[in-house]
Amino acid sequence: MNVVPRDLMTEIPVSPADFRGAMRHLTGGVSVITAGRGKDITGMTVTSVTSLSVEPPTLLVSINRDASSFPLIKRHGAFGVNILNADQLDIAERFAGKGGLKGVDRFAGAKWVTAVSGVPLLVGALSVFDCEVEEIVERHSHGIVIGRVRDVRNSTRNAALAYWHGQYVAVDQDEDAAKLADVSVPARTRRGI
Ligand SMILES: Cc1cc2nc3c(=O)[nH]c(=O)nc-3n(C[C@H](O)[C@H](O)[C@H](O)COP(=O)(O)O)c2cc1C
Repeated sequence: MNVVPRDLMTEIPVSPADFRGAMRHLTGGVSVITAGRGKDITGMTVTSVTSLSVEPPTLLVSINRDASSFPLIKRHGAFGVNILNADQLDIAERFAGKGGLKGVDRFAGAKWVTAVSGVPLLVGALSVFDCEVEEIVERHSHGIVIGRVRDVRNSTRNAALAYWHGQYVAVDQDEDAAKLADVSVPARTRRGI
């Protein structure tokens, strides 16, 4: 059963600028959500994908209700999640609206396969998920889309694309693990005291 939203304070003391400023500190993995079938497809870049539960395999994504993907996800009851690798910056930008491309035109220049649900999935992404919509909770400007994972495919690459402080950054497991090993030395020393 869903919980009825509580009536909160009407005077909100937190400004959008302060809220955005705080959220810039949260590093997000970059994915492309895909929606629709055939030529009636679109997609968008997101950082809001997160795992909801493992059993059953379920994830959620927060999608602006004005985004072109939202009505297609609602209509077809399905969406794809494509976790981008560090070399797919151009795809992230295109699906975030850079260059003004819309709908099917955003898919040009990359290789896609069609999932069982009909949504396109990106060849070469770190992982791709074919999701069936379980529920959409519409709240404020966004819809929290809960997706039951019907299929998942993993690649063997380890370099991911993240977004932090308004810019894209590459997270490379091989390079960054070595750096993290360096900075973790003082922590080990402290524990030893
Ligand atoms: C790094 C990054 C992350 C984003 N994450 C989200 C998100 O989680 N949810 C969302 O609704 N829009 C997000 N956006 C904005 C959408 O990608 C953008 O508004 C998209 O172009 C909307 O699609 P449309 O042009 O088809 O309406 C993000 C944009 C960027 C650059």
